[in-house]
Amino acid sequence: MNDRLRSAVSLEESAFWMPFTANRQFKKAPRMLARAQGMYYYTPEGREVLDGTSGLWCVNAGHCPPRIVAALQKQVAQMDFAPTFQMGHPLAFEFAERLAEVAPKGFKRVFFTNSGSESVDSALKISLAWHRARGDAGRFRLIGRERGYHGVNFGGISVGGIVTNRKNFGPMVGGVDHIRHTHDPARNAFTKGQPLYGAEFAEDLERLVALHDGSTVAAVIVEPVAGSTGVLIPPKGYLERLRELCTKHGILLIFDEVITGFGRLGKPFATDYFGVTPDLITAAKGITNGTVPMGAVFVRDEIFDAFMRGPENSIELFHGYTYSGHPVACAAGIATLDTYADGNLLTRAGDLSSYWEGAVHALKGLPHIIDLRNIGLVAGIELAPRADAPGKRAFEAFVKCFEQGVLIRVTADIIALSPPLIVEKAQIDRIFETLSGVLRTLE
Ligand SMILES: Cc1ncc(COP(=O)(O)O)c(C=O)c1O
Repeated sequence: MNDRLRSAVSLEESAFWMPFTANRQFKKAPRMLARAQGMYYYTPEGREVLDGTSGLWCVNAGHCPPRIVAALQKQVAQMDFAPTFQMGHPLAFEFAERLAEVAPKGFKRVFFTNSGSESVDSALKISLAWHRARGDAGRFRLIGRERGYHGVNFGGISVGGIVTNRKNFGPMVGGVDHIRHTHDPARNAFTKGQPLYGAEFAEDLERLVALHDGSTVAAVIVEPVAGSTGVLIPPKGYLERLRELCTKHGILLIFDEVITGFGRLGKPFATDYFGVTPDLITAAKGITNGTVPMGAVFVRDEIFDAFMRGPENSIELFHGYTYSGHPVACAAGIATLDTYADGNLLTRAGDLSSYWEGAVHALKGLPHIIDLRNIGLVAGIELAPRADAPGKRAFEAFVKCFEQGVLIRVTADIIALSPPLIVEKAQIDRIFETLSGVLRTLE
């Protein structure tokens, strides 16, 4: 790092407008990362930080796996960029085939994007266009869920349900409504795995169907496990019921698997884990192990087929990004799938999940904890907010854990943990020992 960046004083003048960050606070007391390897980040001073969050839920195979690094380096020197509009390159076709092999059964078609937000907006647009392609253009409504996070583009914030991400941005996309969220701590606090109570929250879709008429609804989008809102795990039977209701009313169901895709729950996708099949699946993050921005929408064959009916020389979907199927991202993605296969990483979370669950629930009784939630290699640790300063207690925990060499993530007063899927038991112990030590010191 150069001297200018080394100095906190000049950092305060920095040109970098940081995303989802209190810029002035950060620049006064920065937390910098300079290098990463395996389970660890290293600060510019060389201090080791155990990654309890896979960066931002992306580096499922840990940092800088040699195979992915080598594939990237080779590809960028061989062909830096090639368009996929009216042109093609073999890697995009190869990667799509490889993805279709690990995707849930029936999802054989892949549309490439560059991020989770773009995957969400693409899935919403494909849903609308699909109904139209079938001659059912009256289905224009999109339904999301309270507390849902579907990225930051206009489609995603419209169906999303986190007020801070929505309130400053005007009326957003029209024709959107929301079903209620599934969080019910009064009945479900401290549940291990899926909560027992709350399947009936899916019935809220019937309320919106009655209000708007089901024949106007194109799609419902939910995260099978909601991450960014603070780890909300679907109650037993909830996703099954949502599927039934969507089918009953001819509504497409989209699972936003941007964080659950690629092994987080111990199966390749949450769709496999819960045994509930949506119509479209969004993915990103773990698709390239976080190395190159990329995302994808997986669609069921019938959806793709409905678009392939017009004249052969007409473009079937007027949608795409300059970097859809970028060669460097595809090379990284193929090497990522190889790395996942070598380490059995798409199922490894399943082997570790009971150890993980034990470690999570051993926190019970520590100061401030009002709920503990876990599934796969994900944990949500909810702290009581300070009456005068919501979010501050968890933020202090985050800063102290970082100072003590463990990276955690916080949303409001909820701590979310999601380590790389290569994590060892001793590292799980270290994450929770550090966290419990920190929680004991918090006011
Ligand atoms: C479920 C879900 N959808 C979409 C997104 C947005 O992804 P991105 O930040 O890559 O645009 C995220 C990011 O955390 C996510 O968790």
